[in-house]
Amino acid sequence: MTGRTCLAFVALAVALAAALPLDQDAPTQVHINLGDNEGTSMVVSWITNAATDGYVQFGTDPDHLDSSADQMEKAYRYNFRSTYSPEVYTSGLIHHANMTGLEPNTQYFYRCGGKQGTSTTFNFTTPPPLGSVEEPLYIAMIGDLGQTTDSISTLDHIRADFEAHITVLVGDLSYADSAEQNEPTRNCTQKRWDSWGQIVEPYFAYQPLMVLPGNHEVEQVGPLPATQEQFLAYQSRFRMPSPSSGSNSGNLYYSFNIGPAHYIMLNSYMDFNHSDPQYMWLEEDLRKVDRTVTPWVVCNMHAPWYNSDVHHHDEYEETAMRASMEDLLHQYRVDFVFSGHVHAYERMYPTYNNKTDPTGTTYINIGDGGNREGPAEGYFPQPEWSAYREPVFGHGRLALFNATHAHFTWHKNVDSEPVVSDDVWVIKSESGTRHVGPKFDGGHIKRQYGHKTERAGPILA
Ligand SMILES: *[C@@H]1O[C@H](CO)[C@@H](O)[C@H](O)[C@H]1NC(C)=O
Ligand SMILES: *[C@@H]1O[C@H](CO)[C@@H](O)[C@H](O)[C@H]1NC(C)=O
Ligand SMILES: *[C@@H]1O[C@H](CO)[C@@H](O)[C@H](O)[C@H]1NC(C)=O
Ligand SMILES: *[C@@H]1O[C@H](CO)[C@@H](O)[C@H](O)[C@H]1NC(C)=O
Ligand SMILES: *[C@@H]1O[C@H](CO)[C@@H](O)[C@H](O)[C@H]1NC(C)=O
Ligand SMILES: *[C@@H]1O[C@H](CO)[C@@H](O)[C@H](O)[C@H]1NC(C)=O
Ligand SMILES: [Fe+2]
Repeated sequence: MTGRTCLAFVALAVALAAALPLDQDAPTQVHINLGDNEGTSMVVSWITNAATDGYVQFGTDPDHLDSSADQMEKAYRYNFRSTYSPEVYTSGLIHHANMTGLEPNTQYFYRCGGKQGTSTTFNFTTPPPLGSVEEPLYIAMIGDLGQTTDSISTLDHIRADFEAHITVLVGDLSYADSAEQNEPTRNCTQKRWDSWGQIVEPYFAYQPLMVLPGNHEVEQVGPLPATQEQFLAYQSRFRMPSPSSGSNSGNLYYSFNIGPAHYIMLNSYMDFNHSDPQYMWLEEDLRKVDRTVTPWVVCNMHAPWYNSDVHHHDEYEETAMRASMEDLLHQYRVDFVFSGHVHAYERMYPTYNNKTDPTGTTYINIGDGGNREGPAEGYFPQPEWSAYREPVFGHGRLALFNATHAHFTWHKNVDSEPVVSDDVWVIKSESGTRHVGPKFDGGHIKRQYGHKTERAGPILA
């Protein structure tokens, strides 16, 4: 080969390499979430070993992904050292990109990555237009997920049960927080965030996952040299739509609108008293809600305000947060409060100030996602406000039919088919009072999956 042909050959090889990704460092742990308040953007997050560049290509035709967006910030790593183990963990390079200008109720296809490799082509469907009640809005509700065979069973049951517009996970995601001092064999380390990311990709690369922080996201602020920054992994690995909700807390607390609902995500593990930023933000957020656009207001936090299980009973985050915020939620007629933490299902009648009250909020505890700690068995005598309780793993399905009718069902992970165990209508009347309706026959669920798929990842922990 002459020098000239050699140069030409190199030029050709470089051109080919640019055109054909080498898949040396393709994205892993891909997941999406709503990017704004109106359902017109979707954030995708992924991880590479060393590839620093990143973009997403997207469009409505899988063969012509005609839009693209560069990652919204420089890819970065975080370092974590636990109080209880000498391990210093360094994450992979974390990327986030924002797909903007999306149409409602539309299926999109996307592929993320960079010069070192791109992902497979995933797809998702955008939510209905803001305020729309033409079709029911379906929300999957889970809490305290973890990464066990039970966690995967929960996710598979949701997929078999219905096609949710979004899944809301009310805290305690991967159980990866620092090594647990008393139980070293549980080997809880940051690597478990990566195994969790792999396990949830087959579900949440296709459907938006909206998260809030639980106690397992706090992570320790132990003596040096332990990492001193709380919520570090949780803040690094997600980009929830805080900017559009006027929250400057990253993923710690924020809100978003979807169809006929305004969703509020709160943090039980940071200050919530009246002079604290979280409370002041919440007050302003509730004040701004336009009920003619979003007639439903759904508030979510990790630690339950009402619960009659003996586990995690009357913890500070539960009693003090309720004391601080319950009046505000009541003033603004919040319809539902979902929480987790207690690994059991419990539904409350509309309740206010520790009494059933037709102007009260329907509290539902859904901390039964399937984590390794097992279901929380054992109850106090059933209070008058407790409507249904059962310590079994499962998921919830909330369907908002229109401005007045909501249908909620709880499904246990028993048998191979989703079993409906609790079933209730929440109906709002003109006067603002609600009634918990009779049992429902389970019909007219339009967005139903007709098949089951086998996309679950490996069980790593
Ligand atoms: C995504 O883009 C939209 C539209 O520009 C913007 O409103 C939103 O804040 C962005 N999301 C995030 C998480 O930055
Ligand atoms: C969307 O992705 C799912 C999961 O891989 C797949 O089963 C489905 O066929 C895809 N939809 C389209 C229209 O390609
Ligand atoms: C977990 O950590 C303990 C203590 O460091 C060690 O003895 C054990 O082998 C580890 N187990 C696994 C499964 O890695
Ligand atoms: C919040 O208020 C409660 C009740 O007044 C009080 O016990 C608690 O110490 C306060 N928390 C903080 C962090 O100030
Ligand atoms: C709330 O009600 C339950 C049962 O009705 C009772 O056991 C509990 O003491 C009450 N708590 C407060 C703070 O009033
Ligand atoms: C709301 O939806 C429920 C359930 O489908 C239906 O029975 C009711 O008539 C609807 N109300 C209005 C005003 O459309
Ligand atoms: Fe918890």
